[in-house]
Amino acid sequence: MTRPSEARIDLRALRHNYRLARALHGGRALAVVKANAYGHGSLECARALEGEADGFAVALFAEAQALREAGIAKPILVLEGVFDAAELAAARGLGLWLVAHHAPQLALIEAAEADPAARTQPVAVWLKADSGMGRAGFPLAEMAGAHARLARCAGVSEITLMTHFACADEPASDATARQIAAFAAHTAHLPGPRSLANSAGVLGWPQARADWARPGILLYGADPMPPGGAPSGLQPVMTLSGRVFAQRLLRTGDALGYGARFVAQRPTRVGLVPVGYADGYPRTAPEGTPVAVDGQPTRLIGRVSMDMLTVDLTDLPEAGIDSEVELWARRSTSTPWPRTPAPCPTSCCATSSGCPAYTSNDREAALFRHASRSTVSVSPRPS
Ligand SMILES: Cc1ncc(COP(=O)(O)O)c(C=O)c1O
Repeated sequence: MTRPSEARIDLRALRHNYRLARALHGGRALAVVKANAYGHGSLECARALEGEADGFAVALFAEAQALREAGIAKPILVLEGVFDAAELAAARGLGLWLVAHHAPQLALIEAAEADPAARTQPVAVWLKADSGMGRAGFPLAEMAGAHARLARCAGVSEITLMTHFACADEPASDATARQIAAFAAHTAHLPGPRSLANSAGVLGWPQARADWARPGILLYGADPMPPGGAPSGLQPVMTLSGRVFAQRLLRTGDALGYGARFVAQRPTRVGLVPVGYADGYPRTAPEGTPVAVDGQPTRLIGRVSMDMLTVDLTDLPEAGIDSEVELWARRSTSTPWPRTPAPCPTSCCATSSGCPAYTSNDREAALFRHASRSTVSVSPRPS
């Protein structure tokens, strides 16, 4: 029997969100499709965007290689850059763009000058500055020196200057303004295009607009800015749903699930749904998180398990076995992504171990189905 749970991906919404980001930012935008496009399927998403995206960004060489080998011809930036000479040579061959964010990567690029391919297939390098995040990137004071070293390399075709924000999703913090100012001050004299803004930078920081944006999470419909701000106009891309496969009756005082977190305050009818934290639904989703059963609002009760979760059917007499449970959805405003104690929309949409099978109908809406987490099966084309 097929496990009755699925994640539907709306590729039109994905394109809408990309267009919105590009228009808001101005300039060009790399669509960040790393980590399997935040759980949405990197190849399907890249194919859906290829007609209009200026390019793509992924974390790792292997992700970029997979996209190239599947026929994605647009520029692909590898955000972590390469780890050794073999990856650098292969990246040249595939025409990838590479971030350089620490000294060993500069040394690799310089050492590869001896390779004849350096002249015939020079790579575009995005030189990353640490303007305040304190993670990856050259210290600002070292940017000019790093730039000069790259500029001397025949194997480097173009140098783009980039930085990444730590707190752009916190409009009240001055950290982003300080990062923008520091980056500008230390790179003003260096030639080349600039790239600063991730999703929160695009949405919340007009001062961060530059030659290239790098939106990720917003493409999938998640607004990283705090609630209460101006509506973003983003459209949710994933609808995650499952069907009730079993039900239980609890008496007043009965406990439910791990940690006995939920204790029935009245006779309670519980529906079991085959979606859990192994599918990307947050284990930390609190009691009462909204869900919709056959379109009717109700709530999560009990702790989310690895493979299933439990919902309250008590006030929905029509609901039962086989009822559809939307966990987050495009259709229903009553099922936004759960606000967890540490809200992380990425984990909400990262269907980590689900093995997606895609079909695209004529309107290019793709479907992926968690038929099982250990096999990939291709669903029939919907009529
Ligand atoms: C360097 C860089 N740019 C852009 C992004 C996209 O970020 P977001 O998903 O917040 O838009 C990431 C994501 O981790 C990143 O590492």
